[in-house]
Amino acid sequence: MSASTITLFQENYGTTPEQMAFAPGRIEFIGNHTDYNGGLVMGAAVTEGITLAVRRREDQQLRFISDGLEGVAADLENLTPLSGSASWVNYPLGVIKILRECGMSMSVGCDIAITSTLPTGAGMSSSAAFELSTAYALAALYGFKSDSAGFAGICRQAENEFVGMPCGILDQGVSAFGKKNSLVSINCASEVYRTQAMPEGTHFWIFDSNEKHALVDSAYADRHRECHQALAVLQKALPDAKTLSDLTCEQVKAHAADLGDLLTRRALHITGENARVRSVEAALEQGDLPGVGAALYASHKSSRVNFENSTAALDALVAALAQQPAVYGARLTGGGFGGAVMAFTRADFDADAAAMVAAAYQAQCSREATVIHTQAGEGAHLL
Ligand code: GLA
Repeated sequence: MSASTITLFQENYGTTPEQMAFAPGRIEFIGNHTDYNGGLVMGAAVTEGITLAVRRREDQQLRFISDGLEGVAADLENLTPLSGSASWVNYPLGVIKILRECGMSMSVGCDIAITSTLPTGAGMSSSAAFELSTAYALAALYGFKSDSAGFAGICRQAENEFVGMPCGILDQGVSAFGKKNSLVSINCASEVYRTQAMPEGTHFWIFDSNEKHALVDSAYADRHRECHQALAVLQKALPDAKTLSDLTCEQVKAHAADLGDLLTRRALHITGENARVRSVEAALEQGDLPGVGAALYASHKSSRVNFENSTAALDALVAALAQQPAVYGARLTGGGFGGAVMAFTRADFDADAAAMVAAAYQAQCSREATVIHTQAGEGAHLL
């Protein structure tokens, strides 16, 4: 993987890189849209990710090249978001801007090359992988110190302020804190991260629906706004609640008349997800894997009914997976509105079983699913 990044770098810039970093994509295990609502979430870094190579230049230029995307040049002293086919570099540009605001001294620009083993648009957060690999490689190159939580925060700030996506800390936090064969739990209110070993003999499979929605970002922003509207209504009666995650499902239901149907369902998704994260933590502790699976299915149902961030394609994949005895549970992973389903399985869920799921999906939705058997892998690091 890194050999091809070095080759790409040499072919384009005629020299060798000075620093290289890798950052993984992530699976959202459970805790959907809880992160920007001060809640609980569990994820896992995957072994797929982005490898980034960088070398300082003598002028103020920033140049970017990737396998499969158009090369882009920008000016270090004029960092503004780019549009159209150049917009893929907004992630590293945003990270560079925030790193400098945090005190990283960068008097000259750099040449950057990236390669990716992550499918884009599959809901595995190639954007966070791009941000974290940029932050790690550039911090090492220009001499800036931080820790995993610091880098995750810088990258989230870049995405919120520069890219304009009001995401929470899940993607960047898991990409930074990932650990081989481990789950990462985040308390998004206190920003406390914890890793725990995956149960023995369990596996992750990703089924990318290959359904791309043009309006994913605006749908995400709509949900973000609705959650904050629901909170504002609830705070009139419950002024101590700082976020929806300070509330229970019962409290939300008690104020359903004030909220109206739509905001009640949005709020219930968040309070329900927090409860389900806790139930998954308890089930994992007891080795109750069917119990974990039941919470995953319940999470998907809440996405479908309450949060309306599922799609017919994602529902079809989850329904096909539910027919498989070796699947503990499955749910949409990430923001939703297209993207992928993740399945948490026993070891005997194999390529044949996955092919049966893909065939059922194809029959129902006339589209091919991309199937990835992945593992929980290491978080962002220098190479
Ligand atoms: C996207 C966002 C995350 C999180 C998830 C939904 O992946 O980037 O911050 O909100 O959606 O849980």
